[in-house]
Amino acid sequence: MERKGLILWLTGLSGSGKTTIAKGLECELKERCCLVELLDGDIIRTNLSKGLGFSREDRETNIRRIGFVANLLSRNGVMVIVAAISPYRTVRDEIRKTTTNFIEVYVNAPVTVCEARDVKGLYAMARAGKIKAFTGIDDPYEEPLNADIVCYTTQESVEESIAKVIAELERQHFISTKPKNKMID
Ligand code: ADX
Repeated sequence: MERKGLILWLTGLSGSGKTTIAKGLECELKERCCLVELLDGDIIRTNLSKGLGFSREDRETNIRRIGFVANLLSRNGVMVIVAAISPYRTVRDEIRKTTTNFIEVYVNAPVTVCEARDVKGLYAMARAGKIKAFTGIDDPYEEPLNADIVCYTTQESVEESIAKVIAELERQHFISTKPKNKMID
């Protein structure tokens, strides 16, 4: 069977749940024997985008690099999961236009909730002025206007968000529907 590559692009604020959902999806797709690669902003910034900061220009460069690698992989049949804030609508739309099978997933949680979660303690540092240009605090996040999937992580469990994405992949025939009960001959 020919493998169909795709780019599942998870965008959202820091602390919205992108990495958690991305890891869950990676696991679920691997269980179905798909070829999967996860490109996570935090990890990409320690290698491919090492040295880049958080100015508009640097973020755009970071996102374009991730888009470039995602395209190389997806066109060879890999299901690429991207988890990056990717705050700018124009750059996300540019990647959508220049790639095939781009699926935008908006991991949606209000900044107040992300700040309350503050998993990495970065919101507190941003509020204290120790980090400048922090997304959602003193740097913009442009919400997707037409995301293919929206995961409301304040209302849904992680499992529900993952199931939502998987259902969409099934609907679009990237993966086949899992049989509910295995028939044993
Ligand atoms: S993006 O804006 O270029 O898409 P990316 O997803 O790669 O961002 O990296 C975001 C991660 O970098 C955050 O999860 C956080 O851990 C860290 N970080 C450090 N400084 C900032 C900042 N000023 N704004 C947002 N995230 C930051």
